Amino acid sequence: MKSIWKEGLNNPGDYPTLTESIEADVVVIGAGITGLTVAQQLAHPGKRVVVLEARSVGGGCTGGSTGNLYSTLASGLSSIRKKWDDEAIRDVVESRAEAIDHIEATVAQFGIDCQFQRRPLYRLLTDVDSQSMESLESEREAMTQAGLHVMTEETPPLPFPVTRGLRLDNQAQFNAFHYVQGLARALGGLGVTLYEHSPVRDIDYKRGIVETDGGRVIAKHIVHATHTPKGVNLLQTEMIASREYAVSARLNDGSYPEGICFMLDPFHSLRSYQHQGDTYVMAIGEKHQTGEGQPESDHYQQLRAYLTTHFNVKEIEYQWSAQQYSSADGLPYIGRAHINDHTYVATGFSADGLTWGVLAGMVIGDLIRGRDNPWHQRFDARRFTPLKSATQWAKENVSVAKHFAKDYLSAEKLKALDGIVPGQATVATIDGEKLAIHRNEAGEFSVLSAVCPHMKCLVHWNEAETSWDCPCHGSRFDTQGEVIEGPSYSPLEKRHSS
Ligand code: FES
Repeated sequence: MKSIWKEGLNNPGDYPTLTESIEADVVVIGAGITGLTVAQQLAHPGKRVVVLEARSVGGGCTGGSTGNLYSTLASGLSSIRKKWDDEAIRDVVESRAEAIDHIEATVAQFGIDCQFQRRPLYRLLTDVDSQSMESLESEREAMTQAGLHVMTEETPPLPFPVTRGLRLDNQAQFNAFHYVQGLARALGGLGVTLYEHSPVRDIDYKRGIVETDGGRVIAKHIVHATHTPKGVNLLQTEMIASREYAVSARLNDGSYPEGICFMLDPFHSLRSYQHQGDTYVMAIGEKHQTGEGQPESDHYQQLRAYLTTHFNVKEIEYQWSAQQYSSADGLPYIGRAHINDHTYVATGFSADGLTWGVLAGMVIGDLIRGRDNPWHQRFDARRFTPLKSATQWAKENVSVAKHFAKDYLSAEKLKALDGIVPGQATVATIDGEKLAIHRNEAGEFSVLSAVCPHMKCLVHWNEAETSWDCPCHGSRFDTQGEVIEGPSYSPLEKRHSS
């Protein structure tokens, strides 16, 4: 089963692969919502803008997102308020509202058919425990302090009762995959050159050279719009990579939720979507750290159970998952990278990446054009916030250390390859080397080094997505070792393939 967002597009773009050496003013790595917004800001006569996409336009996290746009944050503003202050949450809300307005204006400007609609957002409780009530009240206070007009809502459009809730009007929903496909098409007409299936393998920052398998781009400005920067980057030590799941179903009755419903106990996000003449309800949740915890298929099962418990489900037809990177101090990192003044990053978006991605595109576009941007200082990627970041930094690096230590020191028992049944995979030690072994349904083996090329942690098998996932900084690889996403430039090394 795949993502509902990628269905129903009559004419997806088809862009060439880079096979030569070219020059540009700006090279953007990644054709998701962030990268294409950067390109949009820079698209004007005389500016040579090249976008390199490892797979296809919007095929990464943008195409696996929730399609929800909101000026607040999914995890709430009160935790940011505690770490920062009232001014910070006002900046969060104002900047994100600007990004949503930008999307709305772009949809109108280019006539993009992506079901953009203004919708309310709800934060809802189904329980009455005092702790949940208290945190809802502190969220109401934070939203109000941030300048939002928040209302009490006890009868949201849901087929099950809630005990307490908040409503925020004038948020939005759309199909982000259709949006970026439409934007990419429009940018082609404005002189932006786009290449698909052109994964970046190396960057020479001194000379401004970005290498792909088949070519290279020589550019003054390099933008990492890849959700997390490619290669080894200081920011990766501060972020946690997580996965979150989505399932989508038609119902036997018409009780589809309206707007963005954040159910808080425990956190699930609910929304509806029109697709090919039918309405679907979508549930998103079951977040966990990438490469850790129970088998990934269990998360899908739990999400399916949540949906069928709360709605009269006819059939679950779509399921997908997506990755998130959470910053240590709660705010995204947007702007110039540490390495030099001509390299830019946009990461740490947590669960709120569509809106942050657009904001990042607007900020980075202004930085490259030499314009002032009101949000640049607030989200500066070079900021140093040890006190606000301390808890997560410790958590993340204990986790990384655990994967270095545990995986290298306690070898699994050697398993005979024949013990792996078709469709299964395992990490095994053979002749002293950790190998990632997968057997496809036809019985053929793919044997790869299990050592992540990024910073040498060991990958773990994700049976729900049939991928090898690295728990350290979130690199993911397909069964042939090719990079799906994350900071690794290189694939897992091949050891044997039958
Ligand atoms: Fe960093 Fe694998 S993603 S070691």
